[in-house]
Amino acid sequence: MEPSHVDPFHIVTPLKKSPVLSTLAGTDVLMKLENIQPMGSFKIRGIGHYCQMLSTKGYTKFVCSSGGNAGLAAAYACNKLGLPATIVVPESTGQDIVQKLQKLGADVIVKGKAWDDADAHAHQLTEVPGSVYVSPFNHPVIWEGHSTLVYELKNSLGSQTPGVLVVAVGGGGLLAGLVEGMVKVGWSDVPIIAMETIGAHCLNAALQAGKAVTLPEITSIAKCLGAKTVCERALQYAREKNIISITVDDREAVRAIEKFVDDELMLVEPSCGAALAAIYSGHIQRLQQEGKLQTPHGPVVLIVCGGSGISLSQLQDFKSQLGLN
Ligand SMILES: Cc1ncc(COP(=O)(O)O)c(C=O)c1O
Repeated sequence: MEPSHVDPFHIVTPLKKSPVLSTLAGTDVLMKLENIQPMGSFKIRGIGHYCQMLSTKGYTKFVCSSGGNAGLAAAYACNKLGLPATIVVPESTGQDIVQKLQKLGADVIVKGKAWDDADAHAHQLTEVPGSVYVSPFNHPVIWEGHSTLVYELKNSLGSQTPGVLVVAVGGGGLLAGLVEGMVKVGWSDVPIIAMETIGAHCLNAALQAGKAVTLPEITSIAKCLGAKTVCERALQYAREKNIISITVDDREAVRAIEKFVDDELMLVEPSCGAALAAIYSGHIQRLQQEGKLQTPHGPVVLIVCGGSGISLSQLQDFKSQLGLN
């Protein structure tokens, strides 16, 4: 990984067995705890790596569009690098995230209803010389950073091969990085379950349509999965590789995060709840029964992608909004 002499901003995260999730899934479930990364999500792997690389190219101003977590990663990285960051977020991004960004020294601009609107504005801001656009998910260097997660898995698992990886998909950066890492460690044949919420299901819609699709709007509460179009590379991999696309509704994602608090004592965003719902909503067992996943197989590796846009009162608000009380 370039630049090799620089320490990365992300940490090596634990891979921890969940007895409760293992019982539910009927097979070992190992959680890759990306929620304990600096700024609370996996995003620091790719975005941190990309910002480090860009800083060596003489850019003096970084502009990142984000639903929240990529922006936090970019602001954190820029803070460490001593460089100014502008983070453009949509109106749906919570005030708590805006404050966290500001505490990291970032300029925050709130623009448009969805991430795509904020992104268009971020592109405009980078027309100034010295400025550089930092995508939240769509760059090979970002995928390279995300692929470090797989190298850690390989180290933790030794000679064991995972049966399946479970991951949430927004713009598809994490998915693309995982696929690239898996090819490098010789796990090309290991299936990946790509989880999205309905209303932020740009990958699933594209696979159904057989071509890239732009969703008319983001209606899911999992705003951090809210890219209207999945990145080309993720779509390409989803077509070529063993990737199983599944959607859950917001209620399933929110129920999953609530159960996860009880079962694992960790609070994550509904975006991450989409991945958790692969187990809580019974998809692993269903796929095994349908013969789409081998039985018995190696452990299920659940990427607990995390997310900072959540608190106990927000969880309560989500539940009220969705009639889950
Ligand atoms: C917590 C969380 N999980 C998953 C994702 C999806 O990642 P990607 O956009 O790389 O698909 C995001 C994106 O912001 C996120 O914040």
